[in-house]
Amino acid sequence: MVPAFANIRVPDRLRFRSVAILLVAALGGVMLVGSARQAAAQKQSGRVVSDAKYTAPYDAFMKMNRLQEEFTKGQTAGEYWGFLESRLGNQAGRILVKRPAKGFGDDAFRGWLMFVRAYGDATGIGNCTACHTLPDFTDHEKHNIGTAKEPVDTPSLRDLGKKKSFFHDGSAKSLEQAITRHVDNGQIARDNKRAGVEIEVGHIALTEDEVRQVAAFLRSLESVDRAKFREHLVDVVVQPVELEFSE
Ligand code: HEC
Repeated sequence: MVPAFANIRVPDRLRFRSVAILLVAALGGVMLVGSARQAAAQKQSGRVVSDAKYTAPYDAFMKMNRLQEEFTKGQTAGEYWGFLESRLGNQAGRILVKRPAKGFGDDAFRGWLMFVRAYGDATGIGNCTACHTLPDFTDHEKHNIGTAKEPVDTPSLRDLGKKKSFFHDGSAKSLEQAITRHVDNGQIARDNKRAGVEIEVGHIALTEDEVRQVAAFLRSLESVDRAKFREHLVDVVVQPVELEFSE
């Protein structure tokens, strides 16, 4: 049996027109989905900006690479570094990450790697997160790093830009000096020359040039307003990752 409507003839012109209408509708649909997706992405990045606890160039760097911003409960500096190193090292081929084009330069990036690097051969080891834990850059505990007889409060390393001197007694006059004191006191910890200087300090191994890079990293911890933070998230360059450190 032939269905009744099989005999109905559709004029050619009409057929062409309905195809054209269908095409336009489909295109419109694709565009709608596209702009909805764009709107969703914008909304999401808007939320990233408004929900951010901290808004330094460093925080934009962590977010754009979806890196772990906080220690999990009980996580050690060594565990965090091990996790990060395998995450970076596991990417096939040349390792690339993104970084904000401004406020987080090549030196800051290298400094960040060494800040969180808790062990390894040679130098380039900051082990800084053993006490300056993420994301506050302090574990809110007292430690003895050889600057006083007794352990002193571990300060946060965020927003140090306006400070003229460092440590409880103001005895370091620059970030570089403060970091170098940690490095030098590492020898005291290793030799166990002065009782109380913690061995975590003894793990630090940084050359003069590396101290400069770690200081550059600390300068990327200055918070900015939300509009500027959004710019940091959007204005991005690609950064190669080199996991070799000098002898
Ligand atoms: C064993 C714990 C410990 C480790 C590891 C450690 N720090 Fe500290 N840091 C402290 C303590 C405690 C102070 C405060 C010392 C004082 O006030 O005399 C401090 C102070 C500082 C200051 C001065 C801040 C201020 O406002 O005065 C800087 C900068 C700093 N640390 C950077 C670093 C860097 C960079 C690393 C890694 C290379 C590092 N620290 C590793 C415990 C640590």
